Amino acid sequence: MDGMSWPSQSELDGMREKVAQMSGGDAKEVRFVVSPYRICPLGAHIDHQGGTVSAMTINKGILLGFVPSDDSQVVLSSGQFQGEVKFRIDEIQLPKFNNGSNNTIPVMNSSKSEEECNWGSYARGALYALQKRGNFLRKGIIGFICGSDGLDSSGLSSSAAVGIAYLMAFENANNLVISPTENIEYDRLIENEYLGLRNGILDQSAILLSSYGCLTCMNCKSVQTKEYQLIHPPNLLDGQKISMKSSYKILLAPSGLKQALTTNPGYNRRVTECQEAARILLQASGKEGLEPLLSNVQPEIYEAYKSKLEPSLAKRAEHYFSENKRVMKGVEAWASGSLKDFGKLISESGLSSIKNYESGCEPLIQLYEILLRAPGVFGARFSGAGFRGCCIAFVDADCALDAASFVKNEYRKVQPKLASQIDQERAVIICEAGDCARVI
Ligand code: GLA
Repeated sequence: MDGMSWPSQSELDGMREKVAQMSGGDAKEVRFVVSPYRICPLGAHIDHQGGTVSAMTINKGILLGFVPSDDSQVVLSSGQFQGEVKFRIDEIQLPKFNNGSNNTIPVMNSSKSEEECNWGSYARGALYALQKRGNFLRKGIIGFICGSDGLDSSGLSSSAAVGIAYLMAFENANNLVISPTENIEYDRLIENEYLGLRNGILDQSAILLSSYGCLTCMNCKSVQTKEYQLIHPPNLLDGQKISMKSSYKILLAPSGLKQALTTNPGYNRRVTECQEAARILLQASGKEGLEPLLSNVQPEIYEAYKSKLEPSLAKRAEHYFSENKRVMKGVEAWASGSLKDFGKLISESGLSSIKNYESGCEPLIQLYEILLRAPGVFGARFSGAGFRGCCIAFVDADCALDAASFVKNEYRKVQPKLASQIDQERAVIICEAGDCARVI
């Protein structure tokens, strides 16, 4: 199994039939965007401050089957949500939600049923982003979109995967040649401007730039240049003839909490707190002219002036500076093939997210602690912002099944109600590294 093990031929065939039924055309004409989910082993919550992050994709994600329509109509159906989304590709899109630059709480506020009606927002947002950068499209698409079972709202960046899937389908149908780095910017426009979430560029960069088996390391400050490096693992691990790629698996342990990030005020509030810490540190060091981002504060300045920060802001800054260091050490550990060291750093990062960034919630913290006790686990942390979704872990491939059943049983003991809402077949998912988003 490798990064190309998803999507399977049967998934593609099933979707081909659905799209052909919708369009009335030939199933052979159906094209696909494969847009994987991402994990961020190290570098949590620092992308929005211009920090350096690490990421990779997994062999699960969003699949969008489509054909270009004969005219400007966009018609979409979803494997997860009810109803059809219809609009014209030449309709001018405006941000859906009022995104004032000062907002500390997201302006998008929706219940689950509203979310059902609103699932077309990402497609409209993709069109908004393309138009905002001067691309006026003529051809719509007829498409069916579906996420891997059991993983919607898992903190694996399904929203960026969806946004990228629509961008790539619209671009392909209109013969637009757009580079991955341009799509990073387009997806930023969907999330920051169209949906009002003040997140960084970690998610979409990981999805667009990753390469199977490598750790992607990105400097999120260079929004213009999109500087990144692919860190290859060594071929041999500890002198044995074992490839690092086959020696670990990635465990995903869903918590059962699913509230969308755009409907939770916590994320944008933390961004504001980090900026406030940066503003105070820059002011104390006579650099108030710089944009209040923690990446504009040199580590020596932080050390010299951190006593000026009140306790909660001091914790946010401590997370930022310690996490940057963990990313650098993690890159070395990955390049030298030490999953043990890499895993230790992931767990330390998880702890800092809980203690310093204060972004976990009880079920995710419990899952994190359970994963650390599971057999063969190198390291664990919660995925994404930490307000919902799943915990991830790197585990010795030989212990993956035992670790999965341990976690499933232990989580059921501490969170019986949430656990009962998770399909028991998918209570813990064992997956592998993936590749970047592509059209096939
Ligand atoms: C979410 C955001 C990202 C990033 C992570 C936390 O996934 O969309 O930009 O901040 O949380 O690392």
